[in-house]
Amino acid sequence: MSRTGSTSTLPSDPPRRWQAWFVPFVLIALTGLLLADPWPHVSPVGPAAVVPASATDMTPVRRPILKPETVVAGMTYRCSECHNLFPSPVETDRPLTQHRAIVLEHGINARCFNCHNRENRDAFADDRGGPIPFDQPPLLCAKCHGPVYRDWAHGVHGRTNGYWNPKLGPMERRKCVECHDPHNPAFKPMRPAPGPNTLRMGDRRSEAEGRSETKNPLLIYRQRLPGGDGDEAKPQRHRR
Ligand code: HEC
Ligand code: HEC
Ligand code: HEC
Ligand code: HEC
Repeated sequence: MSRTGSTSTLPSDPPRRWQAWFVPFVLIALTGLLLADPWPHVSPVGPAAVVPASATDMTPVRRPILKPETVVAGMTYRCSECHNLFPSPVETDRPLTQHRAIVLEHGINARCFNCHNRENRDAFADDRGGPIPFDQPPLLCAKCHGPVYRDWAHGVHGRTNGYWNPKLGPMERRKCVECHDPHNPAFKPMRPAPGPNTLRMGDRRSEAEGRSETKNPLLIYRQRLPGGDGDEAKPQRHRR
């Protein structure tokens, strides 16, 4: 075939009628199908866990008195107002008629005068019976809890509120009695903040279907929580 003098024409079959309709029809049908959304998306991740306000609250669990005062029959008295009137016996192992609300649960530390000063009731007692001011209870705890006191003084035990930068404001070490009741010091269990809901937690859909055979420790823990997870953990069905 010679190229000169001849204008080559591409073979062009005119499209048949049904072909011209086919493509737009399929596209419109697909649009309808997508709009109808017959297979809604089910997210394998649960909804974001809501962190309760209590988990970020910085208020200490106790509000200590820090003053040698107590309320008797609605009136506030200084300890010495009564205790200067009568001497205390050497031991405190009798059932008391006063201060009945105080029940000592401090293990083998079961003696009032291990902490309270026998001669001066407006103070605590140091190892020699001398006074420790009422507003410095950590010094009292330090008598017997040396290692914890040392940790606390270095900021390892307990908590620091306020500012790291002293130019902005004061740094506040929380005192022992703001977390521990001196008469019943074991720290009460707290409900932990909820764990995250991420893909790493695995496909949560199996749980909803009752096939919750999981080795994931976070999930096992959640399932055991009293009144725990429940609805909040179920995977969410939501439409796009
Ligand atoms: C581990 C040390 C310790 C022991 C033991 C102890 N206390 Fe206390 N007590 C304290 C501290 C610390 C405070 C101050 C608490 C505060 O500031 O919130 C206090 C406060 C008090 C108060 C005033 C506050 C209130 O609740 O009315 C009374 C009364 C009292 N103690 C009585 C007793 C009696 C009675 C005993 C013996 C049965 C006893 N304590 C044993 C450390 C101790
Ligand atoms: C309204 C008077 C009153 C006030 C105020 C008072 N006490 Fe007492 N307290 C008593 C009496 C009375 C007893 C002895 C009770 C008994 O023998 O049954 C007692 C007993 C105690 C005891 C047991 C040892 C002992 O002396 O027999 C401790 C410890 C004690 N008080 C600490 C305190 C502290 C700390 C305060 C101040 C925060 C305080 N009390 C304030 C009346 C008072
Ligand atoms: C006279 C010594 C003495 C003083 C003072 C003392 N403790 Fe204790 N504390 C003990 C002993 C002993 C135990 C262990 C009790 C047991 O298990 O039998 C203990 C246990 C504890 C525990 C662990 C409780 C538990 O069951 O988990 C805490 C928390 C504690 N003390 C806090 C304090 C605080 C806070 C103070 C200061 C207000 C304080 N202690 C003052 C002797 C003392
Ligand atoms: C901000 C709160 C906070 C402060 C402040 C605090 N503690 Fe604790 N303490 C805790 C918690 C929480 C635990 C752990 C309880 C548990 O594991 O069950 C604990 C545990 C303890 C224990 C028992 C376990 C151990 O490590 O021996 C002792 C004793 C104790 N604290 C003493 C003190 C003393 C003494 C101070 C002050 C010098 C103090 N704490 C200050 C919160 C606090």
